[in-house]
Amino acid sequence: MGFNPLGQKGIPIEKQLRNWSQLAVQPYDKMAVDPYTRCRIIAMNGIEVESIFFSHQFNRHTDVQEVKEKLAESRRIEQQQQKVINWLTPGDETTLEVTIGYEQVAIDLTAWLARSEPDPYLKQAYDFGLLEDFDHLYRYANLYELIEGKQAEQVVKQLTEITPGRPTAEEHRHPVDDVRRHFDKHTVDPISRMHVLTLVAAEQQTMNFYMTIGNRYQEPIARTLYQEIGMIEEQHVTQYESLLDPAESWFEQLVHHEYNECYLYHSFMSQEPDERIKKIWALHLDMEIEQLRIAGELLKKYDGREPEEILPAELPEPVLFQPNKEYVREVLASQVELTADRLDVTPDKHGRYHAYQGAVHGDGPIPSEAVIEQNLAASGREYRLETEGPNPVERLREHQPQEAR
Ligand SMILES: [Fe+2]
Ligand SMILES: [Fe+2]
Ligand SMILES: [Fe+2]
Ligand SMILES: [Fe+2]
Repeated sequence: MGFNPLGQKGIPIEKQLRNWSQLAVQPYDKMAVDPYTRCRIIAMNGIEVESIFFSHQFNRHTDVQEVKEKLAESRRIEQQQQKVINWLTPGDETTLEVTIGYEQVAIDLTAWLARSEPDPYLKQAYDFGLLEDFDHLYRYANLYELIEGKQAEQVVKQLTEITPGRPTAEEHRHPVDDVRRHFDKHTVDPISRMHVLTLVAAEQQTMNFYMTIGNRYQEPIARTLYQEIGMIEEQHVTQYESLLDPAESWFEQLVHHEYNECYLYHSFMSQEPDERIKKIWALHLDMEIEQLRIAGELLKKYDGREPEEILPAELPEPVLFQPNKEYVREVLASQVELTADRLDVTPDKHGRYHAYQGAVHGDGPIPSEAVIEQNLAASGREYRLETEGPNPVERLREHQPQEAR
């Protein structure tokens, strides 16, 4: 029998509050950290941020005092969890290094979820987003070499390849073409719901991060590249959040949020090689078990349903960070040319697509293209990390590979 958070005893909510010394965590060493430990930290920060914003939205949509108070109590703890996790990132890790970590999360998390997704429509949506974030890593890696003189391999190690995906310039679609069809809450596999919740949180955090830090550069190429890629993250959030069934009540959504936090802390705990950080995942899991119990009580009282009715009997297979190089290459080779037509992904580059492309690109320059040209001019070649051979798509191969590589 697997792990069922509903059957566990967590930490009582009144014992979850930490003092300033407990919040003052030691950041990781950026030279020594396992890239997937960095990825788990980035992912869980996004999950906690979503739990906080969801709770604030719920608070604005209920006038029941007891519900507002229960939300406020759990939310205060979610804030402390977010502080501990996000403050594991050291101050000497540059904004671009953090950014490269964000895109590595987007690639290896999305690829893992796509590979374990039972619903073909949802899998298609993840594959579609995957190729776009894959390209973002390549653009930022070139910006990193251009303005910091360093190679992104130092951040991602050999775990994730760096080469063009669906070119960022081609990702800009009319807003209506990023809305997707939602799953049905009555028939959806519980694992699919958690996949979607996880991707919404991760993409939303990436969107918020670029919205906030993209103006912290002086170099025009950096400022504009963050704007351009930031607009794609808006598209990604639109895509993923529209997959959620809006018919789920606020209480159901709260239960699913807490359950997904349990699922991810449990998953990451099982894989974490850094003992100190593993203890944080374990502590937070014990906190989430109690937050889930409280959410379940609210569901019973206000929706008249037991949490067991809407949750699986045990946690599904864990979410793991691991290389997905072959998978990404297969998706790239077969899906690079796709775009979307309203609810569906399609190979048809229709009129609305071209009109939007024309409107945002104007007469150029396009930042995501300019960054490659500028780095090529400055470094003598563009930056790539192709550990498994040349790019699987002919038109995305390097045109003039230099001897110096
Ligand atoms: Fe949390
Ligand atoms: Fe991205
Ligand atoms: Fe994204
Ligand atoms: Fe929580």
